[in-house]
Amino acid sequence: MSKINKVLAVCCIVPYIPLVVAGIPSARAIQCCTEIAAKTHVTIQSWPISQYSAEYSNAKSHYWSNANADGTPACVVFPTNAQDVSTTIQVLLRYPGVGFATKSGGHNPNAGFASTDGGVLISMSQLSSTMLSTDRKQAHLGPGATWQDAVSALEPYNLTVVGGRLGDVGVGGLLVGCGLSFLSAQYGLPCDNINNYEIVLSNSTIVNANAFENPDLFWAMKGGGNQFGIVTKFTVNTIPIGLVWGGVRTYTRAVAPQILAATQNFTECFPDPRAAIITTFQTLVNNLDQFFAIFFFYNGPTLPPGVFDAFNAIPSSSDSVKTQWYSSLLIANAKFGSIFGLRYVLRGATIPNLPAPKGTDLVVANFNNFVSYASSRGLAGLLQPGFIFIFIYQPVPIAIPAASARVNPLGNLLGLSPDNGDHMWMAVTVSWLTTLGDTDAYRIATEIMDNVVKYTKQTCPGVQGSNFKAGLPDDGYKPPIFMNDAMADQKVLQGYGNETYAKLKNIQKAYDPTGFFPSRTNGFKLT
Ligand SMILES: Cc1cc2nc3c(=O)[nH]c(=O)nc-3n(C[C@H](O)[C@H](O)[C@H](O)COP(=O)(O)OP(=O)(O)OC[C@H]3O[C@@H](n4cnc5c(N)ncnc54)[C@H](O)[C@@H]3O)c2cc1C
Ligand SMILES: *[C@@H]1O[C@H](CO)[C@@H](O)[C@H](O)[C@H]1NC(C)=O
Ligand SMILES: *[C@@H]1O[C@H](CO)[C@@H](O)[C@H](O)[C@H]1NC(C)=O
Ligand SMILES: *[C@@H]1O[C@H](CO)[C@@H](O)[C@H](O)[C@H]1NC(C)=O
Ligand SMILES: *[C@@H]1O[C@H](CO)[C@@H](O)[C@H](O)[C@H]1NC(C)=O
Repeated sequence: MSKINKVLAVCCIVPYIPLVVAGIPSARAIQCCTEIAAKTHVTIQSWPISQYSAEYSNAKSHYWSNANADGTPACVVFPTNAQDVSTTIQVLLRYPGVGFATKSGGHNPNAGFASTDGGVLISMSQLSSTMLSTDRKQAHLGPGATWQDAVSALEPYNLTVVGGRLGDVGVGGLLVGCGLSFLSAQYGLPCDNINNYEIVLSNSTIVNANAFENPDLFWAMKGGGNQFGIVTKFTVNTIPIGLVWGGVRTYTRAVAPQILAATQNFTECFPDPRAAIITTFQTLVNNLDQFFAIFFFYNGPTLPPGVFDAFNAIPSSSDSVKTQWYSSLLIANAKFGSIFGLRYVLRGATIPNLPAPKGTDLVVANFNNFVSYASSRGLAGLLQPGFIFIFIYQPVPIAIPAASARVNPLGNLLGLSPDNGDHMWMAVTVSWLTTLGDTDAYRIATEIMDNVVKYTKQTCPGVQGSNFKAGLPDDGYKPPIFMNDAMADQKVLQGYGNETYAKLKNIQKAYDPTGFFPSRTNGFKLT
């Protein structure tokens, strides 16, 4: 989530100097592509003939983080159904040295997760339809759709699905990471609402995973990532929707104490399951430009009193909040917060939202630590032009796990429980312009989030979040890191707890005995 600063855009853009020369695809990879082309009827765009074609270059280059565009895929495959994906895997199985990547919306910043240098890129862009079931209780979502596509398609029926908060994020990647939605306190996490995965396994078999067929795989997919199979269709619950209230307000740094206190209080005294916020603070190196941007949401045409009173009392610098279609809100959020053309990393950390007043002190201290850390990058920042840091507070009040439990009694991998109190899913994005900043950006994002966790543990050892169930022993519950905000080196699956992790490893082995996905495609690993 970022907004390019005008000053920065004018003064500091330097010509792109590629330090890392992308590899030339191997003859073997090109041969694999030729065989895929011969055995399927799908469009294949192979390097080098296709490298200037719009389809190939769009698939290769259109990523939220430009770092993913560094690689040169041997070819891009555009399947139109599950059978095409199955055939592609059959061919890949005959070329053990050739890597591949599955791409849906291209929003995941981790380089190489949905992009490949020298391998086969499987783009889901042709698998992007949204269809209602005949009883209208479910929707079938193609992974290549964006949330604004899916939501716009369902709106004429006064229905929607539990999905992303910025409209241009992809359905596929968000759902395999479980997801967080504006609608989650009412209806649970996006993955809680999935009733069936049509999925292509490592041996190229197409199966359904649901509560009755392949139920172990069904459970593993609820936050398990891309190491179990390639999903070609998600069947999800539909829910009613009408006009919604929301948008983005920006604020100066001067009102930080009020905003941070209101964010803590919103999480602890969560006023209404129809309400949601994302609080973000953006700063450039040397404090050149700093502002808060808060994404507001209320699932209803008008905002009832008592929901955002504390926020409404804070003077804003800009305000796009209004009553609108849900799809319009998601599109506007994407325009504001999803800026292309930069390199990004995103790193997450889950901390308890402590009860006030200690909780307010914690939220403020983490903010101050972040700002002083970001400002102290001055000289280094100027040498690597263009660093923008965004610090993100995502409230996860106990209303969310309570809704998950109602919607999805079988559970998801995150194992959140309302008994364990309120949490804050924190994240930082660092964005920059050229490969010159790569090493520093990874280190800086890591240090910022490590500081959050370290400070929280040191200052409030053993303290539980607000609304933690009284009398419950501290049972070693470890809050998971949210996969969709995690950086490549973060141990997301391990963070789901030892028991879940051990079960997941067995399921992965059962469905992929030869280790096809672990050895051939990047993602969060079970090792
Ligand atoms: C601006 C912005 C806003 C965001 N907002 C939200 C939000 O509101 N809620 C939220 O939960 N997350 C959010 N995210 C995080 C986002 O969900 C993740 O980055 C997600 O991975 C993106 O999905 P994608 O399809 O766009 O990504 P891609 O980069 O195409 O894919 C991401 C990962 O999923 C895998 N994958 C993709 N499709 C499939 C498939 N069909 N089968 C198996 N594996 C697959 C890829 O291999 C890759 O590892 C946001 C991210 C950004 C940058
Ligand atoms: C959707 O809701 C509007 C407003 O309540 C109503 O006029 C319209 O008929 C509804 N559409 C459908 C398909 O139910
Ligand atoms: C916290 O939120 C609750 C519920 O919205 C509200 O009643 C209360 O006044 C708030 N407290 C502060 C200090 O803002
Ligand atoms: C989980 O496993 C790790 C690594 O094997 C071990 O260090 C840790 O103590 C285990 N945690 C629990 C709660 O059993
Ligand atoms: C592929 O793997 C699945 C799951 O392990 C198995 O049920 C199926 O029989 C396998 N198909 C073939 C053709 O081996």
